[in-house]
Amino acid sequence: MGVKRAYLVEGGYRLRGEITISGAKNAALPIMASSLLVEGPVVLENVPRVKDVETLIELLQILGAKVTWSEGGSLVIDASELKDSTAPHELVRTMRASILVLGPLLARTGEAKVSLPGGCAIGARPIDLHLKGLEMMGAEIKVERGYIQAKARKLKGARIYLDLPTVTGTENLLMAAALAEGETVIENAAREPEVVDLAKALKEMGVEVEGEGTGIIKVRGTKSPKSFSHRVIPDRIEAGTFMVAAAITNGNVTLKGARADHLEAVVGKLREAGIEVDQQGDSLRVSSWDRPRAVDVRTAPYPGFPTDMQAQFMALMSIARGLCVITETIFENRFLHVNELRRMGADIRLQGQSAVVQGVPYLTGAPVMATDLRAGASLVIAGLVAEGETLVGGVQHLERGYERFLEKLSALGARVKEVEHEVPEDG
Ligand code: EPU
Repeated sequence: MGVKRAYLVEGGYRLRGEITISGAKNAALPIMASSLLVEGPVVLENVPRVKDVETLIELLQILGAKVTWSEGGSLVIDASELKDSTAPHELVRTMRASILVLGPLLARTGEAKVSLPGGCAIGARPIDLHLKGLEMMGAEIKVERGYIQAKARKLKGARIYLDLPTVTGTENLLMAAALAEGETVIENAAREPEVVDLAKALKEMGVEVEGEGTGIIKVRGTKSPKSFSHRVIPDRIEAGTFMVAAAITNGNVTLKGARADHLEAVVGKLREAGIEVDQQGDSLRVSSWDRPRAVDVRTAPYPGFPTDMQAQFMALMSIARGLCVITETIFENRFLHVNELRRMGADIRLQGQSAVVQGVPYLTGAPVMATDLRAGASLVIAGLVAEGETLVGGVQHLERGYERFLEKLSALGARVKEVEHEVPEDG
């Protein structure tokens, strides 16, 4: 037998009170990678201290950057001297977002070698569009022995149409374009707030960027990117996760810093389900008194309903009055939480890319397994309302992206704690 960490959730407590939303993981990661473009220190505020951030710090250090946390809590990255241009398999294997160093590394040093990310729990997740875009900018790319090997004497601006509005793909191309000669136009670009935040950081660096937040982004590269400081936007997915946690427990919770303008699709669906959401200054207050109404959801690129909120919303719908259909259009295999929710008594049937959720009056606690970050969050949320105890295994997935998750839940009155439990060696 071996010992593994798990979260033990005792259901039945209403969440009440106030917490502050952390900086966005998916904005922090590309902006950290963009520091590779600059010969000089970059100061980033509001970077969440989560595992994925630690992994990228480790990668930046391998490449030669000096990285420190200042006393005030800012992350300082100085990539003045780079000594390597290889992102090794051991690290990329643990975090796909490592691919974000490809564009800036290639732009800065003329070469980059990045381990090709494998498939992951939620889908195949190819990166062909990142590579196609870089090739259009003049890079030569080979895939050899599991590594992407990219070379470019000088990147040149290009007009790049993305078949899909890939988020990290758009980010990689923005960063490559930042040092390229001439103008790059990215069409069918991702419009996510995290892309806009990266564009803001690039502007602070002295790059001309136009159209971020729309489907067409234009970038004019610079020869001499400047040191800059930047405050990362609040995490809309963390905020959405706590909104759903508040709603499922009939709670009354204030989320400081949550930006309603980044959460319109989620807020819209919560209101449709009968949950009250009010903006109060720079906070969002979420309250509810009764089981939610069932509402259909279809994930879509921003400003549509985020795939990163699909699992959490399904937990909420599992106790709704009525039947709804939740359709996942971004990733082909992002329903691994369904079987776990069913073990807690949820009535969910899968039909291709849709889950048909028949709301039940209550869930019951059970041992369940997190298979990815957001699936893990959905199981904790289900545990908050389930009768009895829910033991959520696979906590390392949750720690990748939620800062002080248990602490924040406890501050709102949830009964959650980390425990160690025995598992068979091959389990
Ligand atoms: N795709 C391709 N070819 C490519 C790139 C993407 O076919 O070259 C496909 C993917 O397979 C997928 C779709 O396009 O079906 C969209 O994927 P996208 O590239 O936009 O996803 P990503 O950039 O790999 C980011 C977030 C994810 C989030 C997705 C979708 C980061 C670091 N990751 O991933 O976040 O789910 O966008 O919004 O920003 C998470 O935080 O839990 C997470 C998984």
